[in-house]
Amino acid sequence: MRTVDIIQKKRDAQPLTTEEIDFIIEGYTSGAIPDYQLSAWAMAVYFNGMTAKETADLTMAMARSGDQADLSSIPGIKVDKHSTGGVGDTTTLILAPLVAAAGVPVAKMSGRGLGHTGGTIDKLESIEGFQVELTKQQFLRQVQEIGVAVIGQSGNMTPADKKLYGLRDVTATVESIPLIASSIMSKKLASGADAIVLDVKTGNGAFMKSLDDSIKLAQAMVEIGEQVGRETIAVITNMEEPLGEAIGNALEVREAIETLQGKGPADLTELCLVLGAHMVQLGGKAASYEQARAIVSELLHDGSALAKLKQLIGAQGGDAGITEHPELLATAAYQVPVLAEEEGTVSQIDAEALGVTAMLLGAGRATKDDPIDLAVGIVLRKKVGDTAQAGETIAELHMNNNEPMFTEDITQRTRSAFTFVQGEVAKPTLIYAIVT
Ligand code: URA
Ligand code: CA
Repeated sequence: MRTVDIIQKKRDAQPLTTEEIDFIIEGYTSGAIPDYQLSAWAMAVYFNGMTAKETADLTMAMARSGDQADLSSIPGIKVDKHSTGGVGDTTTLILAPLVAAAGVPVAKMSGRGLGHTGGTIDKLESIEGFQVELTKQQFLRQVQEIGVAVIGQSGNMTPADKKLYGLRDVTATVESIPLIASSIMSKKLASGADAIVLDVKTGNGAFMKSLDDSIKLAQAMVEIGEQVGRETIAVITNMEEPLGEAIGNALEVREAIETLQGKGPADLTELCLVLGAHMVQLGGKAASYEQARAIVSELLHDGSALAKLKQLIGAQGGDAGITEHPELLATAAYQVPVLAEEEGTVSQIDAEALGVTAMLLGAGRATKDDPIDLAVGIVLRKKVGDTAQAGETIAELHMNNNEPMFTEDITQRTRSAFTFVQGEVAKPTLIYAIVT
């Protein structure tokens, strides 16, 4: 087989065989195929697309390119969840204990934040003592014993995806549905999930800005799941504003605890109940979505899910007392209100701009090795549909540096992330569609 022939075939819009796709991915991972040939191949895929079978073959080839988690020693259906990227997306911290409390084993590998998006692993590290690195044996044993563990991605998982994603980033080939779908699904398959619930964000703050494209991406991923025998469903959700109120590591842990105490923001609570119900249903613990929904709602409101979070934190060496006293989490030295300049109704909140602002505050990393400040961030006091009077607080900055020029810059950036209009604005739709 010659790489150039495979590139030519895709250039001429012909489907590739399983063997040809394996050849490309194995060759690229090992270094036998150079970047310039993979660049040409990726551009050919960008223009000519892939069939459902090619996309599934590509996903499997990437999933096999490195280590794969073996969760077979854990009884039950392991259901994983993935979000296509969010700002202030606190859901994993809530869903992991919620779904585990329903008896669905959660063996979760999560990432760190980069750029304007946060990562679950950084958030968990804002809990004093919490260990995000466990050995394979410790990880499996903890899931067997208490039904849940959340660790950082370790070892050499999906190296093909890492390399290809880096290449796509600099060759204008990121925005290809088969390439995005296979990239996301390969990581889920390598981490051992039997079934997958996808939260595909749509809108301004999302990777996919239009509902149409979001549904196409969701369909491509659900189709991959079907082709490779892992039941997959996708929920298309709103990203015209950040989810919940808190953006920042310790602030989001606090928000997760409040949500598990039944006092969380309405949108975050509802999204967790919807995603959690789908996970419980796929995990075989309910016969219907309605039954699953009743189960997770009960577990959220009767304290069982919070108790499971406490158990999870304790098992991984963290200070479990924060589940009763979230005020013991790291707090920033200064709380600075951002005030509305005139009266109006919020029509949009630019999630990406707030993600960048939180990063500048120190909550996130511009590059992979930057240190982060776990205590800082932004808390929204107004969301889309809310009105504000002139001088009313629309957001609160949690800062460890109150130098006037810095404070002014961060305040301006936060204020300009809000769009105000006159008159009423409807609360945004949270769930747009379910793709199965
Ligand atoms: N997220 C991924 O993991 N991969 C992509 O290609 C795009 C978004
Ligand atoms: Ca949040």
